[in-house]
Order: sequence, then C-alpha cells, then structure tokens
Amino acid sequence: MFDKKNSDISIIIPAGGSGERLKNFLNGENKQFSKINDKMILEIVIERLSKIIDFREFIIAFPSFFDENFEIESKKQYFLSKFPFLKIIPGGKTRAESVSFALDASDFCDGKVLVHDAVRPFFHKNSVKNLIEISKTKKNVILAVKSKDTIREFFENCSIKTLDREKIFLVQTPQIFDIQTLKKAYLYSKNNNFFPTDDAGALEYIGEKVFLCEGDYDNFKITTRADFVLAKIIINKNFTENL
Ligand code: CTP
Ligand code: MG
Repeated sequence: MFDKKNSDISIIIPAGGSGERLKNFLNGENKQFSKINDKMILEIVIERLSKIIDFREFIIAFPSFFDENFEIESKKQYFLSKFPFLKIIPGGKTRAESVSFALDASDFCDGKVLVHDAVRPFFHKNSVKNLIEISKTKKNVILAVKSKDTIREFFENCSIKTLDREKIFLVQTPQIFDIQTLKKAYLYSKNNNFFPTDDAGALEYIGEKVFLCEGDYDNFKITTRADFVLAKIIINKNFTENL
C-alpha cells in the first residue's frame, strides 16, 4: 500500500548483486531478474511486500552499471512502468554499500526503514507484521531463525568447539531500523573507514542495540542451485498464497 501521508516506513531493497553463486546455472543471468513462471524473483518480492506494508517510499538499488547496460536499463524501465511508486538507484560494490546509497536517496530523515533482500520471496506476512510491531518499542529489529544444524568452530580443518545452538541464530530479512540512526551509523562507519558487512553491523559499531524477532525457515535466501530449484517448486504449487 502506497500511503505517503500516513506511513512512517521507507522500504529499501538491495538488488545490486550479480548472483555469482548461481550464475552458471542461470546462464549468466542475475538471479533477482531470473523468471519463475513468467515473473522475475524481484517482481514477486515487490508485489508481496507492497501488499503487506503501508509505505511512504520504496527504493531499489540496481546493479550499478545500469546506464551502460541495455538489459539492466530495460529491466529498470519495466519495473518503473509496472510499479510507478519505485525509485531505482545504482547500487554499490557490496550489499552494505547498496543499502547506504539507497539511504542517501531517501527523502526522509526520521521514521523507519525496512530493508529486505531482493531474493527472499517467501517471507511470512505475520512475521513482517510482528517485526513492525516490535520496532515500535525496540527501534532496531531483525528477523532470524535458530540454527537447525550443529555449529562447530574449526581451525585448519580441526574442530575446536561446538557453539551453543540456543544462542546461534541465522539472520534473515526483512529488518527494520530507525532511519536516522542507520544513516548516522553508515556515515560514522564511512568516516572511520569501517566496512560493515550488514546494517546491524553498522549499528553495533556505533553502540546501538539490535533486537531479534524469530522468523520462519520458509524465508530462505535464494543463494544456491538447490535454493533456486526449491523456489520453483514452491511457486509452482502456489504456496506463496498461504504465507
Ligand atoms: N546485493 C546488493 N549489492 C551488492 C551485492 C548484493 O544490493 N553489491 C544484494 C543482492 O542483490 C541480494 C542481497 O544483496 O538481494 C543478498 O545478497 P546475495 O544473496 O549474496 O546476492 P548476490 O551478491 O547477488 O549473490 P552472490 O553473493 O552469489 O554473488
Ligand atoms: Mg553476495
């Protein structure tokens, strides 16, 4: 829902990656633009998110070379005509840089920003609502799930210890932050030559607390060939309608 007047949420989707781990399988195509049943993965993500969340702006970071690349440029035009509320900007060399460029392009300096990966189409509606609710009191909240597998630490192929599974969580998106604090965190990181691997890392660097909201195992990121094959099955069975 695009509701500039009432919402205090900006949405950012970093979609500037080149999908190296899936490239061979997808014949060189960037995974976010790959189609399953006539729809690009990024298209499914935008459709589902924009139905669930009231938002005031929606920014997407595309692969940075889009002005020189006809294919990416035509995808940009397609997305702008299908979703006229989008603002599409060139992304950066890393995911964190893509998010920080999108923050620079935001029209707002207070309220919230919800960040979601372009290749994570199976988020649950209730978890997103829950995340937004928790952020009303806790400010910075991220979705995560408990590790299903045992996690061991190794050094030079030799096992050192088993980590306590009760304390280990695998981080997902969406994640929601106070936009002013996140902008400040990225600015401070940049000025100190610190390169955070994600938004929570940038916030922790300036001493901000980041809280957990337990998510769902369905909400996996399409990263490997097995993930892509599974995503195809889920979409073909119309499973997303129940999420
Ligand atoms: N991303 C981005 N800008 C980058 C790199 C990644 O916006 N420079 C985005 C991806 O488009 C994706 C999200 O970050 O939506 C999660 O990243 P990942 O799954 O690692 O995607 P890629 O980096 O594209 O894949 P790979 O690591 O296999 O190259
Ligand atoms: Mg990557």
